Amino acid sequence: MKIFLDTANPEEIRKACDTGLVDGITTNPTLASREDKPFQELIKEILDIVNGPVSVEAVSRDSAGMVREAKGYSDWGENVIVKIPMTVEGMKAVKALSREGVKTNVTLVFSANQAFLAAKAGATYVSPFLGRLDDRGHSGTILLQDIMQVYKANGFGTQVIAASVRSPTHVLHAARLGVHVATLPPRVFWQLFEHPLTKEGLEKFERDWQKVKP
Ligand code: E4P
Repeated sequence: MKIFLDTANPEEIRKACDTGLVDGITTNPTLASREDKPFQELIKEILDIVNGPVSVEAVSRDSAGMVREAKGYSDWGENVIVKIPMTVEGMKAVKALSREGVKTNVTLVFSANQAFLAAKAGATYVSPFLGRLDDRGHSGTILLQDIMQVYKANGFGTQVIAASVRSPTHVLHAARLGVHVATLPPRVFWQLFEHPLTKEGLEKFERDWQKVKP
């Protein structure tokens, strides 16, 4: 499973990419609004840091507008993936863009049928939002399971990105299901490295080393 970082913060991206374990980035208008930089400048800075795919969201609501935006974003870098919302207009845009070889990430997906349509339209990636579904009393993990089953049964090549990840448990569920990508807020990325027994064990080794070191 690939790891993407779900942030538009260049410092966080640099720090996490330094581990060599980050394969790409996803951004959205909310994440971009937290940074104090003009949008294009911000995305270009991110593209300079990351070699892998960087998702950038189209904000038009009509398919022609989305296609126009997508083509503009694509000029910013070869690794740009255009995020398109899961709407009728969005799927028209994905269909048109896939014909032209523009890579897309269908976002705001909350049902397996929506994921089915996104794949049928030719999306490169589809992003089911686990946390937001859990927040409403549904199960993001069951949604992931359903999507993986539907994609396998239909032979779709669209890659599934576990999005709206809130905890390491979400990451584990996605990895168990063989999901292609999990996009993680930096906090969850760093949590994956940690275990209290690792910390405790290291402290003991350090104390004991003091007793035996030459
Ligand atoms: C996905 O690409 C989105 O940017 C993201 O995962 C949304 O997560 P949130 O529910 O934490 O806003």
